[in-house]
Amino acid sequence: MIRIRAFEPADAPRVASWIDDERALYTWSGNSGFTLPGLADQLTAFYAADPTRRGHTALTPSGAVVGHFMLRDLPDRETVRLGFVLISPETRGQGYGEAMLRAAVRTAFADPSAQRVSLGVYPHNQGALRLYERLGFATTGTEEKIVEVDGAWWSSYQMTLGRQE
Ligand SMILES: CC(C)(COP(=O)(O)OP(=O)(O)OC[C@H]1O[C@@H](n2cnc3c(N)ncnc32)[C@H](O)[C@@H]1OP(=O)(O)O)[C@@H](O)C(=O)NCCC(=O)NCCS
Repeated sequence: MIRIRAFEPADAPRVASWIDDERALYTWSGNSGFTLPGLADQLTAFYAADPTRRGHTALTPSGAVVGHFMLRDLPDRETVRLGFVLISPETRGQGYGEAMLRAAVRTAFADPSAQRVSLGVYPHNQGALRLYERLGFATTGTEEKIVEVDGAWWSSYQMTLGRQE
């Protein structure tokens, strides 16, 4: 249903086109420092600057680019951080998100030293929360005041999926 490969700079304009406004930008990328406009160039530079940021692109069997995510090893070398999870707006609600995240988790645990996958999600993002819970992620805490959007601070739930789950 979905296959994934390493992010390529040529994917950046398509991924950037899925982010329409600042609320979508911060919901997707939190305090990573991205701004609008010019997201495609920022995304390309972001991955080029640090090879530990492993960007991924998700494609349908016919080769259409429909998703994006990043995996990054945390300094404890046992935790893989999952971030920048995004499915193109026109293909949401068809199971691509779940399929992509299952592939992301499989990829993370392909490294035998990986013991858990962690992520952050904002409480208003109920669809994403449901999806992570469906995959077995559990909330482990809240990180306060991640980013300020329209005068309000957003805190994020921290979620973890252990290797054994
Ligand atoms: C969160 C996100 C990645 C989910 O992607 P998605 O492709 O829509 O996810 P899925 O299709 O697998 O699941 C979404 C819903 O569609 C439903 N669904 C899946 N396949 C379906 C199908 N064939 N027919 C109808 N509904 C279907 C799922 O049951 C799920 O329902 P729910 O919302 O009631 O739980 C996507 O909404 C997104 O990119 N959001 C913006 C960025 C973002 O919030 N990223 C996460 C940051 S933490």
